[in-house]
Amino acid sequence: MKGISLTRFIIQEQRRTPGASGNFTLLLNDIASACKAISQEVNRGALTGVLGAAESENVQGEVQKKLGLITNDILVNALEWSGQVAAMVSEETPDIIPVPVHYPKGKHLICFDPLDGSSNIDVNISVGTIFSILRCPSEAVEQPTEAAFLQPGRNQVCAGFCVYGPSTIMVLTTGNGVNGFTLDRGVGEFLLTHPNMRIPEEAGEFAINMSNRRFWEEPIRRYVDECVKGTDGGREKNFNMRWIASMVSEVFRILTRGGIFMYPFDYRNPTRPGKLRLLYEANPMSFIVEQAGGVSSTGRQRIMDIQTESIHQRVPVILGTKNEVERLESYYRESLET
Ligand code: AHG
Ligand code: MN
Ligand code: MN
Repeated sequence: MKGISLTRFIIQEQRRTPGASGNFTLLLNDIASACKAISQEVNRGALTGVLGAAESENVQGEVQKKLGLITNDILVNALEWSGQVAAMVSEETPDIIPVPVHYPKGKHLICFDPLDGSSNIDVNISVGTIFSILRCPSEAVEQPTEAAFLQPGRNQVCAGFCVYGPSTIMVLTTGNGVNGFTLDRGVGEFLLTHPNMRIPEEAGEFAINMSNRRFWEEPIRRYVDECVKGTDGGREKNFNMRWIASMVSEVFRILTRGGIFMYPFDYRNPTRPGKLRLLYEANPMSFIVEQAGGVSSTGRQRIMDIQTESIHQRVPVILGTKNEVERLESYYRESLET
């Protein structure tokens, strides 16, 4: 087999970490197996009748997709038996997902968005899976409740995402840089194809859903308006814009060629502080972006320092190339000062 497999890579990393157990390797292998199965489902699409809406809503009142529920079950089935997990939470499930009593429990908590970019599935645009691993407080391992998950993102021990695009690619961090692995379908393995991913320091691309402009706060308007005006508005270059509506694809693009991604606070719904979810989307992507040399913020605060209050909590997300995110953060500071 040509190249380093994900399994080999994780074991080699583990050997470099004094005191690390093999349990983590098993856990990541189970996640990788689930992502291979999901890749297969996504790839076969209409052939197996998995597209379209399910007859249900998630806890946040969004219509669920058939594939969202199928991928959720794939992840739960792959992880619950392993003995590595204390409990799980998913964007698709209202309460925490316990480990069935007939399986042993482990010390990890897993948070996942099984199908990110779900509005894209029926139109054949890339979707993905996002996951995050926390340590379960030792006193909570036997009977974990929602409280065990209410940890800040800086406590994550691992985060990753898989994007089901022209290739299926898994991106992973355990706090020691970011690496990308492409699924070789012939071999059935993820192989290291993107070692040590770093977000380029110069970027000329921004991503935001422009249709929400009238609901934005002043600093976001200022920043985006300046990007749109480019050299005519005082910026040193002209910008390009992308909006895929699959965060996995946007983050992969930013890891590859830089840029800024924004799903900021807006005034559409005053009870909703943002669209993206802290545990399933914002925290894992922030860990990856920071590990690749970028910055991830709400505009006012580092995302990984937010004290989680509930498992389905939503937050504003601004992430990407350091200089661009810091410029926007400075606009927030200035607007608070005036
Ligand atoms: P999900 O499919 O898990 O609900 O997430 C979709 C998210 C994210 O991936 C994307 O950036 C954003 O929602 C798109 O939102 P809009 O449709 O409001 O642009
Ligand atoms: Mn999502
Ligand atoms: Mn989702």
